[in-house]
Amino acid sequence: MHDTLLLFGATGDLAQRYLFPSLQHLLRDRLLPDTFRVVAVGRTDYDDDGFRAWLRERIGDDDDRDERALADLLKRTTYHALDLNDTDAIAKTLSRYADRPSVSYLSTPPDLFAPATRGLKAAGLLEGESRLVLEKPIGHDLASAREINATLKAALDESRIFRIDHYLGKAPVQNLLALRFGNTLMEAVWQHRWIASVDILVAETVGVDGREDYYAHYGALRDMVQNHMLQLLALIAMEPPASLDADSIRNEKAKVLRALRPMGKADVGTDSVRGRYGAGVVDGDAVRGFTHDSDVETFVALRAYIDNWRWAGVPFRLVTGKRMPSRATEVVVSFKPVSHWVFERPDKRRARPNRMRMRLQPEETIELGLMGSLAAPEWNATELQPMSLDLSMSSTPQRRIAYERLMIDALKGDQTLFVRDDEVEAAWHWIDSVSDAWRAAATATQDYPAGSWGPTAAADFLPAALFGNGHKKSSA
Ligand code: BG6
Repeated sequence: MHDTLLLFGATGDLAQRYLFPSLQHLLRDRLLPDTFRVVAVGRTDYDDDGFRAWLRERIGDDDDRDERALADLLKRTTYHALDLNDTDAIAKTLSRYADRPSVSYLSTPPDLFAPATRGLKAAGLLEGESRLVLEKPIGHDLASAREINATLKAALDESRIFRIDHYLGKAPVQNLLALRFGNTLMEAVWQHRWIASVDILVAETVGVDGREDYYAHYGALRDMVQNHMLQLLALIAMEPPASLDADSIRNEKAKVLRALRPMGKADVGTDSVRGRYGAGVVDGDAVRGFTHDSDVETFVALRAYIDNWRWAGVPFRLVTGKRMPSRATEVVVSFKPVSHWVFERPDKRRARPNRMRMRLQPEETIELGLMGSLAAPEWNATELQPMSLDLSMSSTPQRRIAYERLMIDALKGDQTLFVRDDEVEAAWHWIDSVSDAWRAAATATQDYPAGSWGPTAAADFLPAALFGNGHKKSSA
């Protein structure tokens, strides 16, 4: 396990919200080497003590154990203010840390990936066993992603490049693999013959406050769909890997992403909705609308198709939005109706096809929707009712921040939960088809009030399961 972490973007939002707290927890739980050290790099001018005081203020904790871990983390942290476009300054300041293999983590905007990589190379920090971790997004489109990937590969081998998608670090996301490949029952019906549609929903109550400029440039399509949602889709749709090693899994995910049918101008009217939240009420609080000049979406609903043998004709509805009424990440697999309905009660129209609903956030539950009869004497045993089988574990184990898992894996060199260059490029290829189609069709964003489930035009894209056991008004 490497013991040197160089953290670029150390004063940024992600670092204070997740990266440093993750390190604090890992130190608390004694999961890092005794010699572990952090070299924090940011733009703001601090000396070591100034940075430590700044950080302490942000991630201080009341819990005793965490407080001790925080003191330990601060003691192990040094700080350097650097302009990442300045190769010479990076080389001069950071080459002293090239005494042993390290992990450099770029938690910076993607336009700094190439210059930072050049600086790290010049400092000798990408040699031997040293590794490079990159935060998403990798570029803004396929062309920029390819450029970044080419720069990275000129500096170090793909086996030492770790592209983060923090959704892969979430335990319930990994559980999708366990469910699919650990159970004959699932795998036997996991295909177009039995599955009618798949819904993937990532709804957030938070808005884009504080990140307006980033968001105005990326929007929900690039911020959420290109990475998190397509990774979920790939895990749900991939073929069984021959083993669980990193490349076996990534090979199968890449095949799915490459099989996504590009969206054309003629499809966008039926297969996509773009929305942007206005003022409204979320969790009882009045919130502002997103009012940036750019015509960027904070909500997107898409119908995607995977053109391969397993998934021919099955729509995958992807919906994500900010300022929704509640936070929910879930996957709903809707099965086809039974081929021949023999029951009188209820009649065929009221029969409800099976449905598996896997909720990943905020709580982790798995629910199987079945039809059954209450076979008690006072009931007619052939009167069927919808039943819900709750497959949740009785007590959810304590979950770590997704980044904790990913940091450990990067320090150990396990790439399984990181995204490979060809996956990123295949995902961008499809995303570019959507954004090009939007441009060609002049698809505008439609307003929705904060605290609602997006524009009314998106109603057909939302999983019925979200609204209890009722049917959707209409469906694709
Ligand atoms: C990030 C996006 O990658 O994921 C954010 O940039 C989003 O816009 C966040 O809020 C959601 O992550 P989580 O773990 O809260 O579901």
